[in-house]
Amino acid sequence: MSTFPAYPTSRPRRLRTNQNIRALLQETRLSISDLICPIFVRHDSEKRPVQSMPGQYQHTLQSIVDEVKKVEQLGLKAIMLFGIPEKKDPEGSDNLSPNGIATKAIQIIKKTCPDLLVISDLCLCDYSDHGHCCIIDPANKTYLNEPTLEYLAKAAVIHAQAGADMLAPSGMMDGTVKAIRHRLDETGFTNTSIMCHSSKYASVLYGPFREAAECTIQFGDRKTYQIDPPNAREALKEMHIDIAEGADILMVKPASFYLDIIRQAHDNFETPIAAYQVSGEYSMIHAAADKGWLDLKSTTLESLMAIKRAGAQNIVTYFAKEAAQWIS
Ligand code: PBG
Ligand code: ZN
Repeated sequence: MSTFPAYPTSRPRRLRTNQNIRALLQETRLSISDLICPIFVRHDSEKRPVQSMPGQYQHTLQSIVDEVKKVEQLGLKAIMLFGIPEKKDPEGSDNLSPNGIATKAIQIIKKTCPDLLVISDLCLCDYSDHGHCCIIDPANKTYLNEPTLEYLAKAAVIHAQAGADMLAPSGMMDGTVKAIRHRLDETGFTNTSIMCHSSKYASVLYGPFREAAECTIQFGDRKTYQIDPPNAREALKEMHIDIAEGADILMVKPASFYLDIIRQAHDNFETPIAAYQVSGEYSMIHAAADKGWLDLKSTTLESLMAIKRAGAQNIVTYFAKEAAQWIS
């Protein structure tokens, strides 16, 4: 009898033999409650498809009613709202108006589905004609940090008054969380939470979103406020600061090119970590699927699973509705 001494003593394949044993040993699970569904809304008579993001729409104040009902029926717990105002100006004033698009949309959504969590984006870039995430000095086109904090603090209160459960500042100005938290507490909104885009990279992957939110930058770029893609320690520094300033949830954005950042965030902090699978990640998967090069469902689910495995508790994804149907 031969004893095959050279054969392996450990055989990991034993535990992959069939579907049931694989299910038993699955380390990461994706559930509908993990997902957050982004919604764009504008003043219009009909919803408009976003060309670069198949299946995504700019909703109207009417069409969001059915949309959020659908989202809730699918078992999703939260949406992230982006408003596109009728008129953009240098000060982004629509976002500070009680009659602005964001305020209106939040009120309608909370009236339609009171339990559905509304996380609203606060950033100036959707509302300003220059497309930047901050107030600009018109004289020399410099980016003004502190005046932007005042803007965000005001917007936070307006959104909270309208009924937003959570605020998502995405502009990467220094001191954002502190300014918003302070103003919310001062005005009695102590239970309104903050999901801060702590490590938002200056990524190419936001391209399709700029069509969706109609926020093309008119000059310059975002490199003086968003993080340089080669840097990881800088992202951790941002997270440290945001936790100290009172952030409730930290966001890493984009997700799939930055899985190492999600992992490090998860390992370094007790604060929940969310990740944003951005427009470019969505559009790439769709484009490859349209060509027949990748399968839409399995590619999507694998991408979401990877983000979860890296350490994200929640994932903001344009696939939220489809994924909810696939998971259930
Ligand atoms: C702007 C903002 C961006 C996204 C969300 N909020 C883009 C940007 O910085 O240009 C991108 C989201 C996406 O690509 O899906 N504050
Ligand atoms: Zn912005």
